[in-house]
Amino acid sequence: MSQPSRKSHVVYSRKEFDVLYKTKAGVLPEQADLFAPLTAAPWETENVQGIVLGWKERDLFGYRVLDSGCGSGKDSVYLAQQGHMVLGYDFSDSAIAAARRRAREHGLGLERVEFAIADATDLRLEGEFDSVLETGLYHTLAEDKRVSYLSGLRRMSPSGNLLLNCVSDILPLNFPGPFLVSRDNISSTFRASGWKVESLEEGWYETLFTPETIRQFSVLRDLPPVDERKLVLNDAGRVMCPVWLVVAT
Ligand SMILES: C[S@@+](CC[C@H](N)C(=O)[O-])C[C@H]1O[C@@H](n2cnc3c(N)ncnc32)[C@H](O)[C@@H]1O
Repeated sequence: MSQPSRKSHVVYSRKEFDVLYKTKAGVLPEQADLFAPLTAAPWETENVQGIVLGWKERDLFGYRVLDSGCGSGKDSVYLAQQGHMVLGYDFSDSAIAAARRRAREHGLGLERVEFAIADATDLRLEGEFDSVLETGLYHTLAEDKRVSYLSGLRRMSPSGNLLLNCVSDILPLNFPGPFLVSRDNISSTFRASGWKVESLEEGWYETLFTPETIRQFSVLRDLPPVDERKLVLNDAGRVMCPVWLVVAT
């Protein structure tokens, strides 16, 4: 199945992701460029996303959780604080360093939360998990990588569940972001990877973008302008990104 075509496509390499997690510390000038005018990646919000809180409220997480593409560990640390045993992994060294720092700052030991550097497209981690949490990695992978990625997660959790959110194809045209994912793509890819989709709903993911910073971002990168009439904002004036919420077993 081909990717929906779009001129405002922004997908980062491992090196660039790695740089993104350093921007908060204000390291090198060229690093600050990747998400300028934001000073951090747009998913680095202060609070745990309502999506994850909602899954927790519905009691969907098993005891042992694998946080796939955990970034700076916000969700892993939250779930560990809620009594789960968590392994978070990411291919970015600086993300994992930030996640380990976060866990230490919250007084969480390795018996509660651990972090590892690993590549989702060639997953070689040990262990078996009751739940896999996946917020925002799937939609960074091109189509030809998705089945083997999700099959790898199935091996890590042969009888558990997968809670995943990814950017949906109802995103306003020209929004700068990763691959847009269609409902059909989810159904076929999950089936081919050994996962049964139990529910597939529309949801909203808070970003650090405002309409103004999206405009500046697009101008800086010579991207086509976003149709701002279609942007949905939360009470803080931040852009909410439409996502698919997938629960699979
Ligand atoms: C949009 S961010 C989401 C991070 C985190 N889950 C959150 O919601 O804050 C996507 C994450 O996936 C990681 N990632 C992308 N491709 C990856 C791969 N092939 N293997 C491991 N991690 C990957 C990136 O480094 C990044 O941290």
